[in-house]
Amino acid sequence: ISFLKFTVLVTLVTRSLADDYVLNNKRFPSDFIFGVATSAYQIEGAWNEDGKTMSTWDNLTHARPELIVDGRNADVACDSYHRYEEDVALMKEVGVNHYRLSLSWSRILPTGFSDQINQPGVDYYKSLFRALKANGIEPIVTVYHLELPLALQELNGVLNESFIDWYADYAAVCFELFGDDVKLWTTFNEPKQICTGGYGYAYFFPYIHSEGLLEYQCAHNVLRAHAKAYRIYDERFRASQGGKVSIVLDAYSYLPASDSAADITAAETRMQFDLGWYANPIFNGDYPEIMKSRIANRSKGEGRDVSRLPEFTDEEKIALNGSADFFGLNVYTAALVAAMDDPPISNPPSKYQDMGVNDYQPSDWETTSLDWLKVAPWTIRHLLNWINDHYHQPDIIVTENGVCDNTGTFQDTQRVSYIQRYLSNIRDTMEQDGVNVIGYIVWSIMDNFEWAQGYTQRFGLHHVDFDSPNRTRTPKQSAQYYKNVCETKCLVD
Ligand code: NOJ
Repeated sequence: ISFLKFTVLVTLVTRSLADDYVLNNKRFPSDFIFGVATSAYQIEGAWNEDGKTMSTWDNLTHARPELIVDGRNADVACDSYHRYEEDVALMKEVGVNHYRLSLSWSRILPTGFSDQINQPGVDYYKSLFRALKANGIEPIVTVYHLELPLALQELNGVLNESFIDWYADYAAVCFELFGDDVKLWTTFNEPKQICTGGYGYAYFFPYIHSEGLLEYQCAHNVLRAHAKAYRIYDERFRASQGGKVSIVLDAYSYLPASDSAADITAAETRMQFDLGWYANPIFNGDYPEIMKSRIANRSKGEGRDVSRLPEFTDEEKIALNGSADFFGLNVYTAALVAAMDDPPISNPPSKYQDMGVNDYQPSDWETTSLDWLKVAPWTIRHLLNWINDHYHQPDIIVTENGVCDNTGTFQDTQRVSYIQRYLSNIRDTMEQDGVNVIGYIVWSIMDNFEWAQGYTQRFGLHHVDFDSPNRTRTPKQSAQYYKNVCETKCLVD
């Protein structure tokens, strides 16, 4: 017996010393979603083929190439419009069970409006869904991923109240055309990038700087458009199609910089102004209280009769409340938050001053080739718990997570380690905190057009040679790693 005890002891000690035992031991449930993601503009190419019209990003990259780091565009990108079968073969080889992609509005509705449907565009997506089905891969489809038909932008895009109807009509067309094949929908990808990026700090199309003003109006329209589409699905499609509809929200994990009460409150405020801004209307029916009160007070100080933060009608609150069947979360990084003295009222207003906190990424956090993307995998546990606590323990799908490099290396050890560490923390959060994470999706299956970074930042599990006519795709070390994860459902090496 004592020999047996000794053997067991030795086995336990050696195993716990070996990292891979700890990771191997982290097994995900057998029905866990393991996926990869892309978006239409970033991979499809064929920008003017088969009846597709110009989108905002086609126009921007043609008219203002100086805004793109390498001056390039996505006219061809990964050429997925012609090479989607190759993409599906890559996914099959990796062994994912889900593929998150987006639809190009200007490929499906060339005028932007729903009275004219472009059949070749529809056929493209139908063929893609057929190929996925034949390979046992489920689509997760985003209706709007950061680009709009140019014709609608010329009518003021998301800032036009009519956007709510344009969008809802478009979404209804998508549900109708593709709902037999698609059971997981997300209405918008990263509304914060559309609104704060586009109309707040102006680091994304259309580069209009109007912090704390147009960015709030943008979000108000996006949220109402989301709710309208969700209710259309409820009324017209849910019974016959039986799918799920949500939205993809991007968030930093904002952690208090210290355990002082002031920093803890500051981090909570930062989370509410970041994620709560969108999630609270959708999961709790209105903007967060802290946003409403701070912005209303500051607006008064500026001599405004009404708050810069628009208000929902009672009807809109009802439509918004509960308009997501799961929580779609894009997460790449984190920051620390410290309290600061309430900033003076400024003109023009600033969202940072509306929040009245100070956030930063410590200089000793692991860096990547993008400034904002510091690697902090342990922080996702805090974020997932925060979502769980604030939004009624939803099912959560991590709809994007991943890391870039600017070297084009095939030995992408940082990506392997990034994915492994994020997944490890996600598994702990599920197991030890009881948070309902049901899926994890890597951005991206392959290198693609990274918006203003052009092709200089590569996020792919597969390398794409953007100078070769056939856009050759080659697996990186991370593709092999993720294949092992999908196969074993464990964090093996
Ligand atoms: C967020 C966006 O959804 C996607 O379009 C982008 O390429 C990745 N994150 C990486 O920045």
